[in-house]
Amino acid sequence: MSNVGIISLGHYLPKKVLTNHDLEKMVDTSDEWITIRTGIKERRIAAADEDTSHMAIKAAREAIKNADMDAQKIELIIVATASADSNFPAVACMVQRAIGATQAAAFDVNAACSGFLCALTTAKQYVQTGLYKNALVVAAEKFSKLVDWNDRSTCVLFGDGAGACLLGHVRSDRGILSEFMHAQGAYGHLLEVIAEERNPLDQTCQAIKPPYVTMNGQALFKVAVNSMFEAASVAIKKAKLKLSDIECVVPHQANDRIISGVAKKLKLPKEKFYINIEKYGNMSAASILVALYEAVENKRIRKGDHVLLVTFGAGLVAAANVVRW
Ligand code: UT7
Repeated sequence: MSNVGIISLGHYLPKKVLTNHDLEKMVDTSDEWITIRTGIKERRIAAADEDTSHMAIKAAREAIKNADMDAQKIELIIVATASADSNFPAVACMVQRAIGATQAAAFDVNAACSGFLCALTTAKQYVQTGLYKNALVVAAEKFSKLVDWNDRSTCVLFGDGAGACLLGHVRSDRGILSEFMHAQGAYGHLLEVIAEERNPLDQTCQAIKPPYVTMNGQALFKVAVNSMFEAASVAIKKAKLKLSDIECVVPHQANDRIISGVAKKLKLPKEKFYINIEKYGNMSAASILVALYEAVENKRIRKGDHVLLVTFGAGLVAAANVVRW
């Protein structure tokens, strides 16, 4: 019996670094406020001509190369994004075209910051049931285009980037051991990107103001800690493990204080958490994949380790997976 697991990883980060000091010149904020309240020091910002699909393609190419995989053999592509280039075609179809995965099915998943884990669990089911032999899961966000750069309460938090992983059959002592996904739609209003209303019969096609992120940070903070705690607890139980069996936690990187809150509630030392928020801010769906990539590169995750991936985000959607690496 084989399991479904992550065979390879890829990532991409735009070159431009926007520091807290850069932001001090743009809005009424300070490096001290951002650092103390969030843990963020800098974030990456995609170029004007670099959209979500471009970052997704670069991350996907690296994951394919690292698996030494022939793109023609990829059977499914799922891209997790809340900042697609356009309403359609799906970013996954753009990736499919660029990498030449002509045999693959392709679609996007939007669960905001929880998108990657929802896509991972979705892809896992397809591979486990045998409908597809493998799946390429990509998470990519150009969140900078959803941010109002005059709004200091949100613009300091987010960044752009992408990650990718290839799923396939692995030995039965490895792979994705459990999954958890849960939505609390009642909290949807806490974090939104809503387009201006438009008369559906309007033939003038007037320019519409681009929709921006609006957020109730404090309310979200409280729900975030509890949601991630619940997601982590259920996923660990489903994997038939104890908290002490987890060698590394890769959490969604929304706020260092949220991660501390989750660590405290789980009674896990914070040293077990892989945190890179200081370099990239909150890259929404891409955060966990980029952190996972780095944790493996930096040997914070080694073969045989139990890894907990845990997230929350707009929706409100929480999710978690336990993986034996
Ligand atoms: O992936 C999910 C997405 N987002 C989240 O999970 C965010 C969850 N929430 C948070 O991370 C925190 O609530 C924030 C980091 C967003 C805010 O931290 P906070 O400790 O909750 O601050 P606050 O909203 O209570 O604001 C405190 C003060 C306010 O001023 P007054 O009313 O006390 O005078 C804000 O106007 O800080 C002010 N403020 C700022 N000051 C400097 C808000 N943003 C800034 C800023 N720079 N960028």
